[in-house]
Amino acid sequence: MLRQFEEGTTLDRFIAESEHLHPDASGRFSALLHQVSLASRLVSARVNRAGLAGMLGATGDVNVQGEFVQKLDEYANEAFKRALEHAGCVGAIASEEDEGPYRVPERFYSGRYIFCMDPLDGSSNIDVNATIGTIFCVFRRKSEEGSPAQMSDILRPGTDIVAAGYVVYGSGTMMVLSSGRGVHGFTLDPYVGEFFLSHPDIRLDGEGRTYSCNEGYAGTWPDGLRAWVDARKGEGMGWKSRYIGSLVADFHRNLLKGGIFLYPGSKKRPEGKLRLLYEAFPLAYLVEQAGGAASDGQRRILDLTPSELHARTPLYIGEKALVEEIVEVLSTRE
Ligand code: AHG
Ligand code: MN
Ligand code: MN
Repeated sequence: MLRQFEEGTTLDRFIAESEHLHPDASGRFSALLHQVSLASRLVSARVNRAGLAGMLGATGDVNVQGEFVQKLDEYANEAFKRALEHAGCVGAIASEEDEGPYRVPERFYSGRYIFCMDPLDGSSNIDVNATIGTIFCVFRRKSEEGSPAQMSDILRPGTDIVAAGYVVYGSGTMMVLSSGRGVHGFTLDPYVGEFFLSHPDIRLDGEGRTYSCNEGYAGTWPDGLRAWVDARKGEGMGWKSRYIGSLVADFHRNLLKGGIFLYPGSKKRPEGKLRLLYEAFPLAYLVEQAGGAASDGQRRILDLTPSELHARTPLYIGEKALVEEIVEVLSTRE
């Protein structure tokens, strides 16, 4: 661990030190991270006061996924877009809440990065004060910066990702980030308004015994998967089940404590529920950086390419050995 990445380092300093490790850096990537930090602090403040600031409940709109848009979904979507659009670092933003990509308005410079996000994950948990979050990943565009970003800059294999992260708005607010040199966690000090490095170099290579899935759907799962979960339920086996229904919160817990998150497809919906570009991709990038793995049941998530912005995928993500077991179980169809 480099000395400059010690606990207590501000996110600001971490960004500057990381940039220093890339002699050809232009500062655009650092600008992007600063704006992400700003937007997540805005959202965090709003989440904390949601019940007092009239931010609970739905807007009355339905998004492209057919889900009711919550007020905080909309606030977070706007906060990230506004923080990023004028900073000269991104050319387009793909969001769960927008049908098409949001291209930076002409009056601003169309920068070299593409930002893909689920601005607020776990919307169904807003009204009960349970943990929610923001999930994002970053690509470097292929087309010339300064010109409008293209769809081909966005629909790319996960192996093209240059950075990813998430922010959990829980009992505290934490940002977990990777730009290819390990996974680092920063905790927001709400009194100072700054993120501080609290979890340097997070690793996921233990023997965690937690599985996270919506067992209410077990009847729709592939038989092998049901058998795998059932086999973990005996007395004295040491397994725990944890599921709040916010991907970001369930994933975060497993990243720190060890385990696996499972969201399979069903016969009716073989592609499952979670979205590839801005839910599965970022977490797959982080999990691999930490030593874990992510699969759709057959293929490595990062080897996939989304067919469209809101394409879905089954997701098995967490400790490598557990993900491998699941892939094995799913390959032997009864
Ligand atoms: P979002 O709030 O961004 O639409 O995502 C909700 C997702 C995800 O966070 C979670 O893992 C999943 O929905 C829970 O789904 P179930 O209620 O089907 O278990
Ligand atoms: Mn989500
Ligand atoms: Mn969402």
